[in-house]
Amino acid sequence: MIMPDHKGKPAMEEGFLPIPPEHLLPNTRAGFEIYLKQGQRFVLYAKSNDQLTGEHRRRLAEMDAREVYINVSKESVYSDYIQDNMSQLLNDDEIPVDVRAETWSWSAGKLAEDVYETALPPSVLRKRVDRIKKLIEASSRFFNSPESLKELSKYISAGGDIYQHGIGTMVYALCLMQTYDADDAVLTAVCVGAMLHDIGKLQLPEELLSKDPATMTEQEFSAYSAHPNIGVRVSAVIPLMPEAIHCVLFHHERVDGNGYPSGATGEEIPLYARVVAVCNAYDGLTRSRPWRRAYTPFEALKHVRNDTGAFDQDVFMRLVKVLSDSGLT
Ligand SMILES: [Fe+2]
Ligand SMILES: [Fe+2]
Repeated sequence: MIMPDHKGKPAMEEGFLPIPPEHLLPNTRAGFEIYLKQGQRFVLYAKSNDQLTGEHRRRLAEMDAREVYINVSKESVYSDYIQDNMSQLLNDDEIPVDVRAETWSWSAGKLAEDVYETALPPSVLRKRVDRIKKLIEASSRFFNSPESLKELSKYISAGGDIYQHGIGTMVYALCLMQTYDADDAVLTAVCVGAMLHDIGKLQLPEELLSKDPATMTEQEFSAYSAHPNIGVRVSAVIPLMPEAIHCVLFHHERVDGNGYPSGATGEEIPLYARVVAVCNAYDGLTRSRPWRRAYTPFEALKHVRNDTGAFDQDVFMRLVKVLSDSGLT
């Protein structure tokens, strides 16, 4: 499947952008023209205000069309269309799971990258976080299946940017919170907190972020370890639910009390923040850093397990189970 990447570098062909035919969702209006490629020509297949039906997709399947095309100038209309219809798309069992997983990752990547832009005016940041909330609300049923996480992991594990780590942490937090039968509003708040947990790092110098925290000088570490507090300050303008704020603030706490910023111990740290702490550590270890290669899921779990006193053991065991149910370890 060819999709534009979320860095805004669409796979262009003469001003046209290929999209998967599965994205033409029945009972919707796309808001952009859809074209087929015949030889070297692009032929109109559906007008922008046409009501799409299952028939549109069936005919494309009969033609064995692997992709349809949109005008490249309509990329943002297309991206909004996918976001607006994410729930329908994710719950459409006629669409292969890998296509749904790739679409989710593409859309989440765009949204997360937008949120992690520096110096956004509060009203813009608020709107962008609202879109993430919507994405999470649309995603919970899809995430309830081990097969989905397996497919998603192919798309979410690459990249070392803060926003990519935010998505990964959010995906694992969503899967773990579902094992606690969390209330929908809490689940969404925790996922938003997981996505934004490192937003305070945007205020830190790049040279500092490229260093291994274990080898930092005392002064460097003190600047680095301010990022949860900075994150709370940055996100105060949104505003976030208390659970989300706690995830931003407490994701580096340790159950033995040796974490930061508060040094709280065990159950003094809210459960959902202990969940995000484990997901943050695991996701971070599976990404390559300037000072080390990416660990395999197995190595990362071993590393988390061996960090005695850091993590809630029950949360850790739930992560092990979620990953092994999805065939990832
Ligand atoms: Fe952090
Ligand atoms: Fe992190």
